[in-house]
Amino acid sequence: MKANCWYGKQDVQVVEVPDPKILNRQDAIVKITSTAICGSDLHLYNGFIPTMEKGDILGHEFMGEVVETGSEVKKLRTGDRVVVAFPISCGRCFFCQKEMFSLCENSNPNAWMAEKMFGHSAAGIFGYSHLTGGFAGGQAEYVRVPFADVGTVKIENGLTDEQVLFLSDIFPTGYMAAENCDITPGDTVAVWGCGPVGQFAIRSAFLLGAERVIAIDRIPERLRMARDGGAETVNYEETYVYDTLMDMTGGRGPDSCIDAVGLEAHTTGPLYSYDRVKQAMWLESDRPFVLREAIMACRNGGTLSISGVYGGLVDKWPIGAVMNKALTIKTGQTHVQKYFRPLLERIKNNEIDPSFVVTHRLHLGDAPKGYAAFWNKQDDCIKVVLTP
Ligand SMILES: NC(=O)c1ccc[n+]([C@@H]2O[C@H](COP(=O)([O-])OP(=O)(O)OC[C@H]3O[C@@H](n4cnc5c(N)ncnc54)[C@H](O)[C@@H]3O)[C@@H](O)[C@H]2O)c1
Ligand SMILES: [Zn+2]
Ligand SMILES: [Zn+2]
Repeated sequence: MKANCWYGKQDVQVVEVPDPKILNRQDAIVKITSTAICGSDLHLYNGFIPTMEKGDILGHEFMGEVVETGSEVKKLRTGDRVVVAFPISCGRCFFCQKEMFSLCENSNPNAWMAEKMFGHSAAGIFGYSHLTGGFAGGQAEYVRVPFADVGTVKIENGLTDEQVLFLSDIFPTGYMAAENCDITPGDTVAVWGCGPVGQFAIRSAFLLGAERVIAIDRIPERLRMARDGGAETVNYEETYVYDTLMDMTGGRGPDSCIDAVGLEAHTTGPLYSYDRVKQAMWLESDRPFVLREAIMACRNGGTLSISGVYGGLVDKWPIGAVMNKALTIKTGQTHVQKYFRPLLERIKNNEIDPSFVVTHRLHLGDAPKGYAAFWNKQDDCIKVVLTP
């Protein structure tokens, strides 16, 4: 089959690889109909996530048709149309029982690597380095889905791929980011980053009852899409974000702050060179501009909800502000399976149509062009969907 594989920094190639096979009784093989490129893939593309190997198949946002099932798969049949969750979860362990699916204890065969870095391992993830299990991803014609009964949601006809594909990651991710804010009526939520995750965080904050959402980015078409979603916008290249947020909130600050940017944050001013140099020399792995700004801007007693991905260690992180301002921090890889049903219901009830975020549709064979366009934000690129 054809698959999009990682070969090094900003080098992905579509090549022929062996078809996946059922390895365990709870596996299914899914023939991909649509797959997307995520901001998380850009961290791999830019070489910030360790333990990638040449030839690794990328992709963790995908859907398709079940073509084969292992003997212990009970809920799926050949021909079923499914969306697959990006975390791989057993459904039975301590964490899965608590619906904390991205913390599954049984799905990362390389847990020992993650334990060295983080103390404990989280779940395995499709197409996301050997630290998270080295699982082949879904930017391919076929994929093996372990624990297939747990990791899939069936989709009836009548909904297009683009309406449901993002149940695999970015819709639940934006939703969990907003849910983690414990929004109460009258709340103002600030969202850093108007990429696909930020867009779903904005719309989810309104779905969960926020009165105002303030979205921060510098890319005009992304700010425009945020305004289409009802947000007020701030361009961080044009104003000083902290001052602007204080002006907009009567000096108190937003009730909660969502980081939908993560470790490759960009900024203006001298700190940018400071963190770029430290990151380039591996003296820190991640650039924490957004974390710093959100902590300083958040109102006292507010919540910092981190959906952006961080991989390791950061410098000059204002823990004194977190403590003295009594902030709550909530974060995590998304517990996607927990959100499958409720968010599918919201799509069916026309509360949201996730396809609004798609700007680019390409053939799987053009995946390298898709990565370059998404990374460079060419032709107003916000979200790329690939079809085999
Ligand atoms: N927690 C999870 O389970 C999960 C799931 C999916 C994605 N993510 C992460 O979410 C983050 C966003 O993903 P995406 O697909 O939207 O990526 P993206 O790269 O398209 O979007 C990031 C946006 O942040 C903006 N930005 C950069 N620096 C900024 C700053 N200082 N202030 C405000 N905005 C800034 C960029 O201009 C860009 O529009 C990534 O880190 C990704 O890895 C996490
Ligand atoms: Zn993703
Ligand atoms: Zn589990």
